[in-house]
Amino acid sequence: MENLAEALLGLSKEDRSLLSAIETGMKTHEWVPSFVISELSGLPVRKVDFRLGLLFEKKLVERESMHYLGYRIDFDAYDLLALSDFVKRGTIKAFGERIGVGKESVVYEALGEMPLAVKFHRQGRTSFKHVRRLRDHLTDKPKVPWLYAAALAARHEFQVMKKLYGKVSIPRPIATSRHALAMEFVSGPALHRITLSDPEDGLRMILGEVGKARRLGIIHADLSEFNIMVDEAGPKIIDWPQAVEVTHPHAQELLERDLGNVLRFFERKYGIEMPLERALVLIGGAESS
Ligand SMILES: Nc1ncnc2c1ncn2[C@@H]1O[C@H](COP(=O)(O)OP(=O)(O)OP(=O)(O)O)[C@@H](O)[C@H]1O
Ligand SMILES: [Mg+2]
Repeated sequence: MENLAEALLGLSKEDRSLLSAIETGMKTHEWVPSFVISELSGLPVRKVDFRLGLLFEKKLVERESMHYLGYRIDFDAYDLLALSDFVKRGTIKAFGERIGVGKESVVYEALGEMPLAVKFHRQGRTSFKHVRRLRDHLTDKPKVPWLYAAALAARHEFQVMKKLYGKVSIPRPIATSRHALAMEFVSGPALHRITLSDPEDGLRMILGEVGKARRLGIIHADLSEFNIMVDEAGPKIIDWPQAVEVTHPHAQELLERDLGNVLRFFERKYGIEMPLERALVLIGGAESS
């Protein structure tokens, strides 16, 4: 959706409660019947079908006619529900432009107590690989509907960030709602977009942050020059939904892959050669053998 804030302004309170009733109904139905939406929203069935007909035309709900009319929502409506929740809670006071589209998220700028980046997770529909990776957190649900996968990814990212914030250089996590995560806006560009004046020092600082996260029990597991932003204060590491604990069976492998990505980037761009073993010693992550 191009303009989330505008779409939100176009929704009535009833529309929002219908969308949220569909959201709840999707826990148990693939297509949520009108009578279930009616029970959940407290609106009569005829009104439900009429209002949802309008939202269907706006492409905010999908509709299927079987022996009853069934509805479901997609990410657009899910984004609106999360945004509306942030507004209600006072997390967000103004909503801005889209600033990033990744493989597994869409990121917007916003304003709260401070400038914010609001990341809407997109896992589940787009990437089944990711859902499988998330299964660590999903003991009893082998077949996860997309909205749980995305919400779970946001919650996991938020929890990891809360654990690290203040100790590791990352944006401050502010709040989550559903699949959305509001965090401090980082003004600097990503590492791959700039030329560092002192790359040796830059690399040392990044390895320092990786080491601190590891000592707190966390491996990023998707680290690269694209997920490291640089502002006046130095590097800030973003994009934590794939993070694993150091007790994860593949933790060491993932740590080495993270370091390998960073080292390859510094070698390619700045000609700095540092063996992986050296980086592992620097972060205090060498296997004792
Ligand atoms: N806190 C932030 N401040 C400023 N910009 C941000 C912030 N968080 C994310 N962005 C922007 O949004 C982009 C996408 O965010 P992020 O890397 O977290 O997700 P992603 O790239 O979709 O995930 P993946 O790497 O799995 O595809 C970033 O590259 C960056 O440009
Ligand atoms: Mg990224």
